[in-house]
This record gives sequence, structure tokens and C-alpha cells, in this order.
Amino acid sequence: MKHLIAVGILVALTTLGVAAGLRALPLAPIAASAQAGPIDALFGLHLQVIAFLFSLIIVFMLYSLVVFRRKPGDASDGKHIEGHTGIEVLWTIVPLGIVLYFAYLGAQTLAEIRRVDPQALQVKVTARQWAWTFEYPGDVTSGTLNLPVNRQVLLKITSKDVIHSFWVPEFRVKQDAVPGDKMVKDLVITPDRIGEYKVRCAEMCGTNHAYMEAPVAVMATAQFDAWLKQESETPTDPVARGRRWATKFGCIGCHTLDGSKSVGPSWQGVYGKTEEMADGSKVVVDDAYLIEAITQPAAKLVKGYGNLMPATIGADLTADQIQDLIALIRSLK
Ligand code: CUA
Repeated sequence: MKHLIAVGILVALTTLGVAAGLRALPLAPIAASAQAGPIDALFGLHLQVIAFLFSLIIVFMLYSLVVFRRKPGDASDGKHIEGHTGIEVLWTIVPLGIVLYFAYLGAQTLAEIRRVDPQALQVKVTARQWAWTFEYPGDVTSGTLNLPVNRQVLLKITSKDVIHSFWVPEFRVKQDAVPGDKMVKDLVITPDRIGEYKVRCAEMCGTNHAYMEAPVAVMATAQFDAWLKQESETPTDPVARGRRWATKFGCIGCHTLDGSKSVGPSWQGVYGKTEEMADGSKVVVDDAYLIEAITQPAAKLVKGYGNLMPATIGADLTADQIQDLIALIRSLK
């Protein structure tokens, strides 16, 4: 009995210490959504249970090692114990109760963070190798996920090719993007902290998976409304329109506009350049070559680059949109 009381006190003290240590670790980034609260609370509760179980095992083990150490000269056997129904019932019932309680808490939290507000702002999220695009009401497409603060947003997440996963760690929630029109997935987020974050892809999706990111900006409602209004007007400048299509159709996921190397050749300075093809031939990059490169990406590959561009992208674009893209590429000297 004396030993049990000693161990009990040690387990309690170790639990408090380990729990405090775990709490002090920066395990999660800043919380920036209403959904983060219940998720972090559940996480915190799990850490407390983990601290207790860790202490239970470690304290009993170390206590036995030290206190019940074999005395010098004592070669006798330990006491033989044949089961204990009371303890066995207890260590079956107690963990079962804890697991069921956590299942209940998990289900309750899931229901809470998935509850859709009828006033929610709806944004369509399209993932493709290797870019994110965001479509807003009023035919606005953006490569940045702009969101008004303290208003619920309902994301409708889909993919054009393989499975990706939408994840903003500060919002805590995560959702796979699955190809197929019938597989559009919902994700509810209520951003409650103005600031800049990043969407990451959390599902291995090929060459550029690690760089498949998109900026997130949570802003004041007035600022968001002004941005949406401005974007809903189609620009008259072909270069500005080209930028819009480059975002909308995900071109910038693989082609940079600033000369840096990525999956595909950068668009900066490429117009008018003589490029060496994979087969050793030389091609001058002009309108005709660019149209062919967009509509039949595999026809002439620039040396050093793989055949990774979606073969059907040309069918998604109108001839005018292709002209706007060429105007954009031409402008990037
Ligand atoms: Cu998309 Cu990983």
C-alpha cells in the first residue's frame, strides 16, 4: 500500500510536468479560424491523456527498477501471481470508457466545424498539377485566396487531374481535392484573424508537389468587397487579361514570369528567343510556335524539360484567350 501511494503521487507529478512540457512546445502555428478553437482543444486534451499514459508506464518501470532491485546474495524467485480479475476488469472498462468519450468528443467537434452557415461565401477551389485557382461569385478567378475576416466561407474543392489536398495549417482543417465532377468536396472555414497565410498541397502529386502553394490573404470586409468588384471587370489591356488567364488556367504553376526555373520554361524573355528542342533542332519562339506549344504541348519540347503539360489545356482556352497569353509572354522582356 505504501508503494502504491508513492507511485500514485509520482505519476500525478510526472503527468503535470510532461503535460506542461508538451503545452510549452510550439506544436501548431497560430490559430486563424473559428474552426481552429475546438480542434486545438481536442488536441490539448489528447496531449493530457498522452502525458498521463506516458507517466503511468515510465514511473512504474523506474520505481520497480530502483525500489525492488535484487538485494546482494538474494537468489530466490519472485512471488508467483496468477491473474487478478478485478484489475483485468478495471483495465478493460476504463480505457474503453476513455476511447468512447473521445469518439463522442470527436464526432461532436466534427459536426461543429462542418456546420454550414446559409450566409457563407462560396468559393470554388480547383487543384491541378501544380497550381491552385479560386473562383468567386461574379466570375472572378484568382490565384490568391482572398477572404473577408469573420465571414464563413464554403470551399467547393475539386481537382483537374490527380488527388491533391487543400491545407492551410493556421486554419487547421484539411480536405483532399479529388478529380471528377461528382467528387466535389466541401470545406468550411471562418477566418478570424487578418493576415497572410499559405495554402499547401498535402498529398503527394508529382514533380512539383512540394512547391504547390498559393497565397491566402484574410482582410477586412470593405477591402475584400472592393477587391471583388475590381476583379469582376474584365481588363481592356490584353496583357492584364493574359495574366488573368495564366492564373485561371494554372499556367503559372509551372511557368514563372520572372525568369526563375520551374517545371516548364519561364515566360520571361522567351518571346523571339531561339530555343533548342529535345531533338536538337532550333525553333524561334514566335506566335506560331506558342500556339502550337499551347494546343499540342508534346509536339516540340524545349531541351531539358519533360512532357508534363496537360495535353488538353488547349481545348479549355479560346483563341482569344491564347492571343492574350501570347501578349503577356511578349510583354515579359
Ligand atoms: Cu498537389 Cu501535392
